[in-house]
Amino acid sequence: MPLAAPSILAADFAELQEQVALADKSGADWIHVDVMDGHFVPNITFGPLLVSAVNRITERFLDVHLMIENPDFFLEDFAKAGADSLIVHYEAVVHLNRTIHAIKDLGLKAGVAINPSTPTEMLKEIINDVDLVLVMSVNAGFGGQKFIESSYRRLSEVKALIPKGREVLVEVDGGVTPENASKLVKAGADVLVAGTSVFRSGDIPGAIKKLKSA
Ligand code: DX5
Ligand code: ZN
Repeated sequence: MPLAAPSILAADFAELQEQVALADKSGADWIHVDVMDGHFVPNITFGPLLVSAVNRITERFLDVHLMIENPDFFLEDFAKAGADSLIVHYEAVVHLNRTIHAIKDLGLKAGVAINPSTPTEMLKEIINDVDLVLVMSVNAGFGGQKFIESSYRRLSEVKALIPKGREVLVEVDGGVTPENASKLVKAGADVLVAGTSVFRSGDIPGAIKKLKSA
């Protein structure tokens, strides 16, 4: 069974507490938090203060996706705020090995994300160090975009890079719906990140249930 990770980017922020609590109660395994800086991606969202607020609403695993330049400056702040994982972008980090180990030294799960245009082979040297790989299935920056079809193949390629005996969870993020969920799981996704198809569905519990049964 895949893990369902609703992305609060698509939530109604005037009702964040209710919506996160409902997702939690409805079987969401993780809560996914999209941090954007207006530099690495052309959109600005939120920072450690919101992670800390969500951490007070739910005890679920907080999966924090950093779409920011210079993530090293902020790792400790997000750890203190209650993040359980920190995912940095391959395209945003120069010394990726150092950053991944800095995340682990804070006691968190460490992940790397790749944009749709980054070849999956680029993960070859870091795959032995990470706990998570996040395959972007849209261009990072906004919710509600159209799923990019090459993502199925890219998930399988990432899965094939993982050495036998190493536990690395593969996440897919962007345009994930109850309709494409089972094909994504077959292609290799362990964690389904979904914003619009959960929080804008009008039926948060139903959407989570469908994702998990993929
Ligand atoms: C996009 C974010 C996603 C976003 C997905 O850059 O990383 O997590 O919330 O949104 P949907 O599910 O609406 O495509
Ligand atoms: Zn995300």
